[in-house]
Amino acid sequence: MAARGLTLGFGAKTVLSDVSVEFPRGSITALIGPTGSGKTTFLRSLNRMNDKVRGYYRQGDVELDGTSIWGRDVALMGLRRRVGMLFQRPNPFPMSIAENVIAGVRAHRIADRSQVHAIAESRLREVGLWEAVAERLGDSPFRLSGGQQQLLCLARALAIGPDVLLLDEPTSSLDPITMEAVEALLAKLAPALTLIVVTHNLAQARRVSQRTVFFYQGRLMEAGSTDQVFEDPVHPETARYVTGRMG
Ligand SMILES: Nc1ncnc2c1ncn2[C@@H]1O[C@H](COP(=O)(O)OP(=O)(O)OP(=O)(O)O)[C@@H](O)[C@H]1O
Ligand SMILES: [Mg+2]
Repeated sequence: MAARGLTLGFGAKTVLSDVSVEFPRGSITALIGPTGSGKTTFLRSLNRMNDKVRGYYRQGDVELDGTSIWGRDVALMGLRRRVGMLFQRPNPFPMSIAENVIAGVRAHRIADRSQVHAIAESRLREVGLWEAVAERLGDSPFRLSGGQQQLLCLARALAIGPDVLLLDEPTSSLDPITMEAVEALLAKLAPALTLIVVTHNLAQARRVSQRTVFFYQGRLMEAGSTDQVFEDPVHPETARYVTGRMG
């Protein structure tokens, strides 16, 4: 996946200016930067979540396997199947826990009826939630803790088998133990999936990512290997941010 000269905004406000960056297949990239620098807006653009926002305008492009995601032959459903998203705040659907996991599988008609329960179990096991919910699969997800709801949403995102997973501060509501488990899971997923993770947790960016992109005031200030960006940043703003002297 790659952004090429992506400029976008809402109404008179330009939020991102001329962002170009490539996300190598199978890698984990951390998006970092101060609040309001455009990380979420950028992430949402990668699966066309901004298209319907009032006043939205765009120049430049985003490509998946060399094809524009706004291309004439690209169906939005198909794009969303390949590029999944996990939001900062868990957003379970108003249906049972088991139905949540397989909601995407159903919508995309990926599996037939006999398989869906096996898929639900294997995805819940994968995210480490199975033991906690095995006895209450028919219950509402809204009685789960916030962290458990987030894991459920992760299971749902994984169930459709995306190629790229976008994660917006995915562990900000998780306790340290669950956060560690999610980080380990991301590392395990990565060779098969391309992961793009927004995080304010700089230690997490260093732990999980191979590449880091630093956003500053709507611009891509710096992108490179995570070691380079943290240990030998090119720009003074990057240095100030990664050493905790800014934001
Ligand atoms: N729909 C919108 N209409 C107008 N402005 C918007 C809209 N969505 C986002 N913005 C503006 O775009 C800028 C970037 O916001 P964004 O949410 O992408 O930042 P962020 O880097 O994710 O910040 P944070 O770290 O706080 O989550 C902000 O100034 C925000 O107010
Ligand atoms: Mg954000």
